[in-house]
Amino acid sequence: MNAIVFFDPNCSGNSNIKGTIKIHQCSPKSPVLFHVNLTGLSKDTVHAIHVHEYGNLTKGCMSTGSHFNPTNETHGSYLYPKEPRHVGDLINNIQSSKKGVINYKFWDHLTSLSGPMSIVGRAIVIHEGKDDLGRGGLGPNGRVINKKVHKESLKTGNAGGRMACGIIGRDKSHHFT
Ligand code: CU
Ligand code: ZN
Repeated sequence: MNAIVFFDPNCSGNSNIKGTIKIHQCSPKSPVLFHVNLTGLSKDTVHAIHVHEYGNLTKGCMSTGSHFNPTNETHGSYLYPKEPRHVGDLINNIQSSKKGVINYKFWDHLTSLSGPMSIVGRAIVIHEGKDDLGRGGLGPNGRVINKKVHKESLKTGNAGGRMACGIIGRDKSHHFT
């Protein structure tokens, strides 16, 4: 099955980000491939990327809800596989090139294009800042040194404003090159 997200600066967010994210899953339980192809980003910058709950852009990216979290976990990262994370946390961050472009493929093992983990009809949001992977407000020994920052880290990763977003829609089969 395939899905596609179209980023159009006229429809969503307050940025010039334009392009697509093509999404492919061979069978309902196989990992999901995301091919991000975006232009118009700030140069050489790390931005958080998540699946948010709703494909609702009536108030731009603000009406897409929170991180997609069907398993009712705290925010985290695939980099810490023994710890909880939201299904929608994906790879947490992506980086733009010196030309403000992202052409990048990654796999995700928690999302699906069907069943209870389905992300179809939801939204992908790209944030102004960097996702802190659920580690915000922690000291070097893993103890909480800033309660407020850490509380927010477990919800949003302190990723900052919502720069761009698009709705995840069904697509016909396409090939990945
Ligand atoms: Cu987000
Ligand atoms: Zn999250």
